Amino acid sequence: HVTLNTHLAHGFHTGQAGRGFFCYYRLPLSIRVFLEAAIRNCDGFYTTEGDVENILDWQQQQDKAEVPFTPARVLLQDFTGIPAMVDLAAMRDAVAKHGEDPSLVNPKCPTDLIVDHSLQIDFSKCFFICRTETAVKNQEMELIRNKERLQFFKWCSKAFKNVNVVPPDVGAVHQVNLEYLSRVAQVSDGVIYPDSVVGTDSHTTMINGLGILGWGVGGIESEAVMLGQPVSLTLPQVVGCKLVGSINPLSTSIDIVLGITKHLRQAGIAGRFVEFFGPGVSQLSAPDRTTIANMCPEYNATVSFFPIDRVTLKHFKKTSEPLSRLAHLFPQRTDRKALMFLQVIEINLSSMVPHVSGPKRPQDRVAVSNMKADFQSCLEEKVGFKGFHISKEKQETRVPFLHCGQEYQLVHGSVVIAAVISCTNNCNPSVMLTAGLLAKKAVEAGLTVKPYIRTSLAPGSGMVTHYLNSSGVLPYFSQLGFQVIGYGCATCVGNTAPLPDAVVDAIKQGDLVTCGLLSGNRHFEGRLCDCVRANYLASPPLVVAYAIAGTVGIDFEKEPLGKGVFVVYLSDIWPSREEVQQTEEDTVISSVFKDLRGRMEKGNTFWNNIESPDSVVFPWDPKSTYIRCPPFFSNLSKELPAPQSIENAHALLFLGDKVSTDHISPAGSIARASTAAKYLQSRRLTPREFNSYGARRGNDAVMTRGTFASIKLLNRFIGKPSPKTLHIPSGQTLDVFEAADRYQRDGVPLVILAGKEYGSGNSRDWVAKGPYLLGVRAVIAESFEKLHKSQLVGMGIMPLQFLPGQSADSLELSGKERFSIVLPESLSPRQQLTVKVCAGTCARLRIDVIIFQHGGLLRYVAQTFLRSGSQPRAGAAERAPCP
Ligand SMILES: *[C@@H]1O[C@H](CO)[C@@H](O)[C@H](O)[C@H]1NC(C)=O
Ligand SMILES: *[C@@H]1O[C@H](CO)[C@@H](O)[C@H](O)[C@H]1NC(C)=O
Ligand SMILES: *[C@@H]1O[C@H](CO)[C@@H](O)[C@H](O)[C@H]1NC(C)=O
Ligand SMILES: *[C@@H]1O[C@H](CO)[C@@H](O)[C@H](O)[C@H]1NC(C)=O
Repeated sequence: HVTLNTHLAHGFHTGQAGRGFFCYYRLPLSIRVFLEAAIRNCDGFYTTEGDVENILDWQQQQDKAEVPFTPARVLLQDFTGIPAMVDLAAMRDAVAKHGEDPSLVNPKCPTDLIVDHSLQIDFSKCFFICRTETAVKNQEMELIRNKERLQFFKWCSKAFKNVNVVPPDVGAVHQVNLEYLSRVAQVSDGVIYPDSVVGTDSHTTMINGLGILGWGVGGIESEAVMLGQPVSLTLPQVVGCKLVGSINPLSTSIDIVLGITKHLRQAGIAGRFVEFFGPGVSQLSAPDRTTIANMCPEYNATVSFFPIDRVTLKHFKKTSEPLSRLAHLFPQRTDRKALMFLQVIEINLSSMVPHVSGPKRPQDRVAVSNMKADFQSCLEEKVGFKGFHISKEKQETRVPFLHCGQEYQLVHGSVVIAAVISCTNNCNPSVMLTAGLLAKKAVEAGLTVKPYIRTSLAPGSGMVTHYLNSSGVLPYFSQLGFQVIGYGCATCVGNTAPLPDAVVDAIKQGDLVTCGLLSGNRHFEGRLCDCVRANYLASPPLVVAYAIAGTVGIDFEKEPLGKGVFVVYLSDIWPSREEVQQTEEDTVISSVFKDLRGRMEKGNTFWNNIESPDSVVFPWDPKSTYIRCPPFFSNLSKELPAPQSIENAHALLFLGDKVSTDHISPAGSIARASTAAKYLQSRRLTPREFNSYGARRGNDAVMTRGTFASIKLLNRFIGKPSPKTLHIPSGQTLDVFEAADRYQRDGVPLVILAGKEYGSGNSRDWVAKGPYLLGVRAVIAESFEKLHKSQLVGMGIMPLQFLPGQSADSLELSGKERFSIVLPESLSPRQQLTVKVCAGTCARLRIDVIIFQHGGLLRYVAQTFLRSGSQPRAGAAERAPCP
């Protein structure tokens, strides 16, 4: 499809498109994904030729041009999915009322709705916490209301094209996305293109580790994508992260992931894309990559992108076939040095040498190669964090003792405790597998662990035990004495059995500095045992290695680990990264996939048994307090309405600076005194059954009443934080909803006055829909949070900005004036409009005119439908090429 547009194609080959051509082969691969999507979706409306050229001209346009991005698919969770699906269902109603075919209303792109644990939590809460009589009723309520939502989802999955519902209990969203929904390439209408996604899950960015561009968005943004509107973003700056050198064999995935994260954190790359390249990348496994990608918030990058390569394909168990079809986008053999980046950060993987921490504090890191020398210096140093002050003549003390009839010796540095622990913050399977494979090779080489050393294995979860067992390493752990002692971080340290008396006596007799080694927790949990004075944190395989050596006073490079059949060095038995990755792919990942498939089947059985209507339009249940048909499409007409001027509006609210989305559309519980509570009570619900705003976002009546119902809302009409406002004509103080309702009944349009950064904070579904249904036509503020501005436009509310330097105060507004805004026949972006406030003053306008003109995105999509019988850009076949 690069050749789809001849003008552009001409430009690619001749450079005559001027600014763009020479750049294509040097574009970062993540930007090529943008470019491809822009060309494929170029309709001259949402995505224009100018957008394509801006992307092609990335070098000049980065951080400047606003560009559209049409992701291949949308990922929704059940909570965020409800309002989006309810709107589409309502649109079907509206279209049917006008005599058109409602079955044509569908999401524009594949939409996966994952009914994750948020439903299940409700169940388990009831099962485990409350078992009283009333609780049983409560539980029934939960079941009923979940049933209602599940039935609605079931209807959606049957009625809509492009909607796939993943049933409850299959897995967490990000897991299902990584393991089930992701593709190397998407294929539709014979076009093969790269997968990409926006999702309402905060872990969406993990997917970039698999070469799939994606990030998290709010529910309202994902709904816009479903309606066919691309995501709009500033063309990102891309920082190249070049990985060179080879990974130190003793380093684990965790060392590498944390090492790379640390480098990136120091690089100051907030708000940028990171793209990995260089000869070192292929050493990172798919799980390493997704972990790094998931840690984006730590270094404030928007995404960390690992272009598709052999490792990715192997993970997907794919041959290179689909990749070859995407070869122009993800070249495998070109010299990636040729790509341009804003900046290149080079990370030498060899520089990430393995460390242990100790002997007294976790922050005292010692390179493993330096361990012997460091311990020796600790013996000599005077007492402190790194000193035990053992006199010269006592440093060579040896104390013989008997254990189970055998004679052994203890010296300074002898290991007496070795605990392999897999904690939640250390759960990368490859690390435990490395330890297991090391144990296996040690046993095969005839090595043993001295029996007086207290060895233990705490796998952290049954899952870890399961994969250690299925990869076949568990028996070797036990042969070395590492028996499974239980699960969980909290217990693992305390669970270590006391040291043998003979060992304790020998330590006391020689005043010895003996050592405990512990993997897992990054914090010292306190000493392992009173008489063990040196405590080190090390990776699980190093714990095994030091246990076999029996001492920390060893230089693994120069000294053998022990003597089995032959003299054995650590490097002889340390498993290679390839071997570990292969084992991980074969046992852990394949069993996770298998497990997921099993749960999917079970989930589907459950799902198939849910009853739901077969109708094309949804049969709304008037009794439902969770799912209601929203009035967005009332009064819809086939004709596009001319922009309607606003005459004699009142200010509903007079707000200050930094009014956040939390003030506009509070989440959380529904206060008993609120209008939402009154509504629910009128529907015969008791306060216990109110549930939260979050759970009720499929009900516009609750959500509209909840708009501006935050008790923290500081409204200058009231003068103190409160969810109330002044109804100006009557002078009465009312709940915001009640005031708005009265204005609406009197036919009075509304505006909101605000200060700086209106609409900051997390995206919420109802931040624009709520004010729209309250009758708000414009928000006049000193400045807007960018995302919120586009949300307002999307609902047909005008975001108007005071001219620079002006504010409500500088214009001496009391808020009680009447506001009139005359709109010209046609609006152009960044146009200045006059807002008449008694005597005339000015506010500046900068809005996305087309969408605005037609009363917001929802109504626009529905109207286009009525006129043409199809949504805008209704699919490849109907799409006209760029002019
Ligand atoms: C990476 O570091 C190692 C050891 O410090 C060095 O030998 C190697 O040359 C470096 N590699 C590159 C590509 O800089
Ligand atoms: C990331 O952004 C947050 C908030 O914008 C800031 O507080 C923090 O210092 C940033 N961290 C880095 C590593 O840039
Ligand atoms: C390990 O797997 C074997 C067979 O697959 C099974 O019999 C055994 O119970 C498992 N052991 C553990 C500790 O899970
Ligand atoms: C519906 O349309 C009629 C006629 O165009 C108009 O008078 C009325 O105000 C509209 N109602 C709403 C809620 O927009």
